[in-house]
Amino acid sequence: MGRGFSEFKGKVAVVTGGASGIGRGLAERFIDEGMQVVIADIERDALDRTAAEIGALAIQTDVSDAASVAALADAAHSRFGAVHVVCNNAGIGSFGRIRDLTLADWQWMINVNLWGVIHGVHHFLPLLLENPEGGWIVNTASMGGLAAFPGLGAYATTKFGVTALSETLAQELAQDEVPVGVTVLLPGPVRSNLGRSLRNRPADLAAGTLADADLESLPQYRDRLPWKTPAQAAEVVITAMREGALYAVTHPELVERVFNRTQGIVQAFGYQAEFSPK
Ligand SMILES: NC(=O)c1ccc[n+]([C@@H]2O[C@H](COP(=O)([O-])OP(=O)(O)OC[C@H]3O[C@@H](n4cnc5c(N)ncnc54)[C@H](O)[C@@H]3O)[C@@H](O)[C@H]2O)c1
Repeated sequence: MGRGFSEFKGKVAVVTGGASGIGRGLAERFIDEGMQVVIADIERDALDRTAAEIGALAIQTDVSDAASVAALADAAHSRFGAVHVVCNNAGIGSFGRIRDLTLADWQWMINVNLWGVIHGVHHFLPLLLENPEGGWIVNTASMGGLAAFPGLGAYATTKFGVTALSETLAQELAQDEVPVGVTVLLPGPVRSNLGRSLRNRPADLAAGTLADADLESLPQYRDRLPWKTPAQAAEVVITAMREGALYAVTHPELVERVFNRTQGIVQAFGYQAEFSPK
């Protein structure tokens, strides 16, 4: 990708899922850079509390609902007159083996994690393209958007979609030679409330088997996984935006998982891939 996004001061950012975790980390970091920040989230209380603590504007939003995201874009634009950065970050991360999932499980996961990002791109891209000084889209995928893990089939299905959407959009924006770019955030384990995602499962949705796995509360994961903080995730995003980089990675130590998947694909084409760190 060409030019990055480096003039943050005085610009306007909208962060979905901004009441907690990585979204809050991004919002705080943008505020530190001198931006005006709107945080959008489905959880009213957490949203208002976070907005008051960090000095952001709160707009309650359900990213799975196109009209709600359209209203968010309108409200942010009317309040500040422009939107320069949108982070399509709201997401859920409950676990379930594919054979056990109900269709309602799939619908919830796809509605939030994939439609949420599609709605954000659809409603905010026209606003970013309006800016003579350009803009930036940050989509939060996951390591699960690059490699599969047992128990995370529904999640990975949505996150691979977010990766594909981001890669395609980056190529199209480059072809169009517009000053808007894309970064896809690919986090490994980051301390957040993702392990309590079921708190946001819609009450009117049919029953399912998706379950929360709060890995941070289990000693074998808490101590073994290389946990990072939301501030560290936000730092890699800022760096990627400045550099105009498509991929923002929080855990270089997990590269082997990506390599192993790539190796399988390359071998199917009749070639060998070699793992050689730079
Ligand atoms: N924490 C990790 O280890 C990790 C790893 C890879 C990817 N991610 C991704 O990072 C993103 C942020 O998650 P997090 O880890 O900060 O978790 P989190 O639960 O702390 O934050 C997610 C936020 O999204 C909000 N949300 C959920 N459903 C929503 C909806 N329908 N509309 C609007 N807001 C909604 C939640 O209320 C919450 O505030 C997610 O997309 C997640 O998949 C997280």
